[in-house]
Amino acid sequence: MRRKFICGNWKMNGTLEETSALLGGIVGLWDDAYRKVEVAICPPFTSIGLALDKLSGRGVQIAVGAQNCYSETKGAFTGEVSARMLAEAGCTYVILGHSERRTIFNENNELINRKIKTALNVGLKPILCIGETHEERELAQTYEVLLHQLTQCLRGVDVTQMKMITIAYEPVWAIGTGRTATAEIAQDSHSYIRSEIGKLYDETVASQITIQYGGSMNAANAAELLEQTDIDGGLIGGASLDAKAFTAIIEAATK
Ligand code: 13P
Repeated sequence: MRRKFICGNWKMNGTLEETSALLGGIVGLWDDAYRKVEVAICPPFTSIGLALDKLSGRGVQIAVGAQNCYSETKGAFTGEVSARMLAEAGCTYVILGHSERRTIFNENNELINRKIKTALNVGLKPILCIGETHEERELAQTYEVLLHQLTQCLRGVDVTQMKMITIAYEPVWAIGTGRTATAEIAQDSHSYIRSEIGKLYDETVASQITIQYGGSMNAANAAELLEQTDIDGGLIGGASLDAKAFTAIIEAATK
Protein backbone atom coordinates (compact mmCIF):
# COMPACT_ATOMS: atom_id res chain seq x y z
CA MET A 1 0.00 0.00 0.00
CA ARG A 2 1.40 3.38 -0.98
CA ARG A 3 1.06 6.10 1.62
CA LYS A 4 -0.86 9.15 0.39
CA PHE A 5 1.23 12.31 0.01
CA ILE A 6 -0.37 15.75 0.17
CA CYS A 7 1.92 18.69 -0.55
CA GLY A 8 1.11 22.39 -0.65
CA ASN A 9 2.85 24.44 -3.33
CA TRP A 10 2.45 27.98 -2.08
CA LYS A 11 4.06 29.43 -5.22
CA MET A 12 4.97 33.12 -4.69
CA ASN A 13 2.63 33.54 -1.73
CA GLY A 14 3.51 33.77 1.93
CA THR A 15 5.07 36.81 3.55
CA LEU A 16 6.36 36.06 7.06
CA GLU A 17 3.11 37.33 8.51
CA GLU A 18 1.00 35.25 6.13
CA THR A 19 3.16 32.17 6.77
CA SER A 20 2.63 32.48 10.52
CA ALA A 21 -1.10 32.91 10.14
CA LEU A 22 -1.57 30.06 7.66
CA LEU A 23 0.54 27.56 9.61
CA GLY A 24 -1.14 28.62 12.83
CA GLY A 25 -4.44 27.76 11.16
CA ILE A 26 -3.23 24.38 9.93
CA VAL A 27 -1.75 23.47 13.32
CA GLY A 28 -5.04 24.46 14.95
CA LEU A 29 -7.04 22.19 12.65
CA TRP A 30 -4.59 19.28 12.77
CA ASP A 31 -6.02 15.89 13.66
CA ASP A 32 -3.90 12.97 14.80
CA ALA A 33 -5.43 10.82 12.04
CA TYR A 34 -3.49 12.94 9.52
CA ARG A 35 -0.32 11.09 10.54
CA LYS A 36 -1.42 8.37 8.16
CA VAL A 37 -0.68 10.79 5.34
CA GLU A 38 2.68 12.24 4.30
CA VAL A 39 2.13 16.00 4.44
CA ALA A 40 4.45 18.76 3.27
CA ILE A 41 4.32 22.44 2.43
CA CYS A 42 6.59 24.30 0.04
CA PRO A 43 6.62 27.99 0.92
CA PRO A 44 8.86 30.61 -0.72
CA PHE A 45 12.57 30.40 0.23
CA THR A 46 12.24 33.33 2.62
CA SER A 47 9.60 31.56 4.70
CA ILE A 48 11.30 28.15 5.01
CA GLY A 49 13.03 28.91 8.31
CA LEU A 50 9.93 30.40 9.85
CA ALA A 51 7.79 27.51 8.62
CA LEU A 52 10.10 24.96 10.27
CA ASP A 53 9.96 26.99 13.46
CA LYS A 54 6.18 27.20 13.42
CA LEU A 55 5.81 23.46 12.81
CA SER A 56 8.31 22.03 15.25
CA GLY A 57 7.10 20.86 18.63
CA ARG A 58 3.47 21.50 17.68
CA GLY A 59 2.43 17.85 17.52
CA VAL A 60 2.00 17.95 13.75
CA GLN A 61 3.81 15.91 11.13
CA ILE A 62 4.43 18.29 8.26
CA ALA A 63 7.64 18.38 6.24
CA VAL A 64 8.92 21.50 4.54
CA GLY A 65 10.13 21.72 0.96
CA ALA A 66 11.25 24.29 -1.58
CA GLN A 67 9.80 25.14 -4.98
CA ASN A 68 13.03 25.15 -6.95
CA CYS A 69 16.80 24.85 -6.70
CA TYR A 70 19.67 25.35 -9.11
CA SER A 71 21.55 22.62 -10.94
CA GLU A 72 25.03 23.68 -9.85
CA THR A 73 26.41 23.19 -6.37
CA LYS A 74 27.90 26.65 -5.79
CA GLY A 75 29.45 29.66 -7.44
CA ALA A 76 28.66 32.70 -9.55
CA PHE A 77 24.95 32.14 -10.20
CA THR A 78 23.36 35.36 -9.00
CA GLY A 79 19.90 34.85 -7.61
CA GLU A 80 20.03 31.07 -7.42
CA VAL A 81 19.80 28.74 -4.42
CA SER A 82 21.60 25.38 -4.24
CA ALA A 83 20.14 22.05 -3.20
CA ARG A 84 22.65 21.84 -0.36
CA MET A 85 21.50 25.21 0.99
CA LEU A 86 17.93 23.94 1.02
CA ALA A 87 18.84 20.67 2.70
CA GLU A 88 20.87 22.59 5.27
CA ALA A 89 17.92 24.95 5.84
CA GLY A 90 15.83 21.93 6.78
CA CYS A 91 14.00 21.13 3.55
CA THR A 92 13.01 17.53 2.85
CA TYR A 93 11.54 18.06 -0.63
CA VAL A 94 12.08 20.22 -3.67
CA ILE A 95 9.55 20.72 -6.46
CA LEU A 96 11.26 20.55 -9.86
CA GLY A 97 9.98 20.94 -13.39
CA HIS A 98 6.80 22.78 -12.48
CA SER A 99 5.06 24.04 -15.62
CA GLU A 100 5.38 27.62 -14.37
CA ARG A 101 9.16 27.15 -14.27
CA ARG A 102 9.07 25.55 -17.72
CA THR A 103 6.97 28.27 -19.38
CA ILE A 104 7.78 31.49 -17.52
CA PHE A 105 11.46 30.74 -16.83
CA ASN A 106 12.20 28.64 -19.92
CA GLU A 107 13.35 25.55 -18.04
CA ASN A 108 13.81 22.53 -20.25
CA ASN A 109 13.97 18.82 -19.48
CA GLU A 110 17.75 18.78 -19.64
CA LEU A 111 18.08 21.48 -16.95
CA ILE A 112 15.41 19.78 -14.83
CA ASN A 113 17.34 16.52 -15.13
CA ARG A 114 20.50 18.22 -13.82
CA LYS A 115 18.54 19.79 -10.97
CA ILE A 116 17.10 16.41 -10.01
CA LYS A 117 20.56 14.86 -9.83
CA THR A 118 21.92 17.76 -7.77
CA ALA A 119 19.00 17.44 -5.35
CA LEU A 120 19.46 13.66 -5.05
CA ASN A 121 23.15 14.11 -4.33
CA VAL A 122 22.38 16.02 -1.14
CA GLY A 123 19.47 13.83 -0.07
CA LEU A 124 16.74 16.28 -1.05
CA LYS A 125 13.67 14.47 -2.40
CA PRO A 126 12.56 15.78 -5.80
CA ILE A 127 8.90 16.13 -6.70
CA LEU A 128 9.09 16.00 -10.48
CA CYS A 129 6.19 17.73 -12.25
CA ILE A 130 5.13 16.61 -15.70
CA GLY A 131 2.00 17.35 -17.71
CA GLU A 132 0.57 18.23 -21.08
CA THR A 133 -0.83 21.56 -22.27
CA HIS A 134 -4.40 21.98 -23.48
CA GLU A 135 -3.19 22.04 -27.07
CA GLU A 136 -1.19 18.84 -26.66
CA ARG A 137 -4.24 17.10 -25.18
CA GLU A 138 -6.40 18.29 -28.08
CA LEU A 139 -3.82 16.89 -30.50
CA ALA A 140 -3.88 13.54 -28.64
CA GLN A 141 -0.21 13.95 -27.69
CA THR A 142 -0.64 13.52 -23.94
CA TYR A 143 1.10 10.14 -23.64
CA GLU A 144 3.92 11.20 -25.92
CA VAL A 145 4.53 14.39 -23.91
CA LEU A 146 4.42 12.57 -20.58
CA LEU A 147 6.82 9.90 -21.75
CA HIS A 148 9.22 12.44 -23.22
CA GLN A 149 9.28 14.49 -20.01
CA LEU A 150 9.71 11.35 -17.89
CA THR A 151 12.57 9.87 -19.88
CA GLN A 152 14.42 13.17 -20.30
CA CYS A 153 14.02 14.38 -16.73
CA LEU A 154 14.95 11.01 -15.24
CA ARG A 155 17.93 10.31 -17.50
CA GLY A 156 20.71 8.72 -15.45
CA VAL A 157 18.55 8.35 -12.35
CA ASP A 158 18.94 4.77 -11.11
CA VAL A 159 16.54 2.36 -9.42
CA THR A 160 17.78 3.20 -5.91
CA GLN A 161 17.49 6.94 -6.51
CA MET A 162 13.93 6.46 -7.79
CA LYS A 163 12.93 5.64 -4.20
CA MET A 164 13.55 9.32 -3.40
CA ILE A 165 11.39 10.65 -6.24
CA THR A 166 7.74 11.62 -6.33
CA ILE A 167 6.05 12.29 -9.66
CA ALA A 168 3.37 14.98 -9.86
CA TYR A 169 1.04 14.75 -12.85
CA GLU A 170 -0.02 18.32 -13.47
CA PRO A 171 -2.00 18.86 -16.65
CA VAL A 172 -1.11 22.46 -17.51
CA TRP A 173 -4.70 23.26 -18.51
CA ALA A 174 -5.90 22.41 -15.00
CA ILE A 175 -3.42 24.56 -13.07
CA GLY A 176 -4.93 27.63 -11.45
CA THR A 177 -7.87 27.45 -13.82
CA GLY A 178 -10.45 25.86 -11.56
CA ARG A 179 -10.73 23.23 -14.31
CA THR A 180 -9.78 19.97 -12.62
CA ALA A 181 -9.09 16.92 -14.72
CA THR A 182 -11.95 14.49 -14.20
CA ALA A 183 -11.05 11.56 -11.98
CA GLU A 184 -11.17 9.39 -15.09
CA ILE A 185 -8.75 11.55 -17.11
CA ALA A 186 -6.38 11.87 -14.16
CA GLN A 187 -6.47 8.13 -13.43
CA ASP A 188 -5.77 7.37 -17.07
CA SER A 189 -2.64 9.55 -17.10
CA HIS A 190 -1.48 8.24 -13.74
CA SER A 191 -1.85 4.66 -14.83
CA TYR A 192 0.06 5.45 -18.04
CA ILE A 193 2.88 7.11 -16.05
CA ARG A 194 3.09 4.12 -13.69
CA SER A 195 3.23 1.63 -16.53
CA GLU A 196 5.97 3.58 -18.32
CA ILE A 197 7.98 3.76 -15.10
CA GLY A 198 7.63 -0.01 -14.96
CA LYS A 199 9.21 -0.21 -18.42
CA LEU A 200 11.95 2.34 -17.67
CA TYR A 201 12.79 0.70 -14.33
CA ASP A 202 10.97 -2.34 -13.02
CA GLU A 203 7.65 -3.42 -11.53
CA THR A 204 8.80 -2.82 -7.96
CA VAL A 205 9.70 0.81 -8.69
CA ALA A 206 6.42 1.26 -10.56
CA SER A 207 4.33 -0.15 -7.76
CA GLN A 208 6.12 1.83 -5.06
CA ILE A 209 6.43 5.26 -6.65
CA THR A 210 4.10 7.99 -5.44
CA ILE A 211 2.25 9.81 -8.21
CA GLN A 212 0.46 12.97 -7.10
CA TYR A 213 -2.20 14.80 -9.01
CA GLY A 214 -1.95 18.60 -9.30
CA GLY A 215 -4.31 21.06 -10.93
CA SER A 216 -7.17 22.76 -9.11
CA MET A 217 -7.44 20.02 -6.50
CA ASN A 218 -9.61 21.30 -3.66
CA ALA A 219 -11.70 20.23 -0.69
CA ALA A 220 -14.64 19.40 -2.94
CA ASN A 221 -12.93 17.21 -5.54
CA ALA A 222 -10.06 15.68 -3.51
CA ALA A 223 -11.93 12.60 -2.30
CA GLU A 224 -12.95 11.47 -5.77
CA LEU A 225 -9.48 12.02 -7.21
CA LEU A 226 -7.73 10.35 -4.28
CA GLU A 227 -9.82 7.23 -4.46
CA GLN A 228 -8.50 6.41 -7.94
CA THR A 229 -6.15 3.42 -7.99
CA ASP A 230 -3.10 5.26 -9.26
CA ILE A 231 -3.59 8.66 -7.62
CA ASP A 232 -1.40 8.69 -4.53
CA GLY A 233 -1.83 12.24 -3.37
CA GLY A 234 -1.98 15.83 -4.47
CA LEU A 235 0.25 18.78 -5.20
CA ILE A 236 -2.00 21.63 -4.19
CA GLY A 237 -1.65 25.24 -5.29
CA GLY A 238 -4.46 27.66 -4.46
CA ALA A 239 -6.26 25.48 -1.93
CA SER A 240 -3.07 25.00 0.10
CA LEU A 241 -3.22 28.69 1.03
CA ASP A 242 -6.38 28.13 3.02
CA ALA A 243 -5.97 26.18 6.27
CA LYS A 244 -9.51 24.78 6.16
CA ALA A 245 -9.30 23.68 2.53
CA PHE A 246 -5.80 22.21 2.93
CA THR A 247 -6.71 20.20 6.03
CA ALA A 248 -9.91 19.02 4.35
CA ILE A 249 -7.77 17.61 1.53
CA ILE A 250 -5.48 15.88 4.05
CA GLU A 251 -8.60 14.51 5.72
CA ALA A 252 -9.80 13.12 2.38
CA ALA A 253 -6.42 11.41 1.99
CA THR A 254 -6.85 9.55 5.28
CA LYS A 255 -9.85 7.64 3.89
P1 13P B 1 -3.67 24.96 -8.37
O1 13P B 1 -4.03 23.98 -7.30
O2 13P B 1 -3.76 26.38 -7.91
O3 13P B 1 -4.38 24.71 -9.65
O4 13P B 1 -2.10 24.74 -8.67
C1 13P B 1 -1.66 23.46 -8.90
C2 13P B 1 -0.18 23.49 -8.95
O5 13P B 1 0.41 24.10 -9.82
C3 13P B 1 0.54 22.77 -7.88
O6 13P B 1 1.90 22.71 -8.16
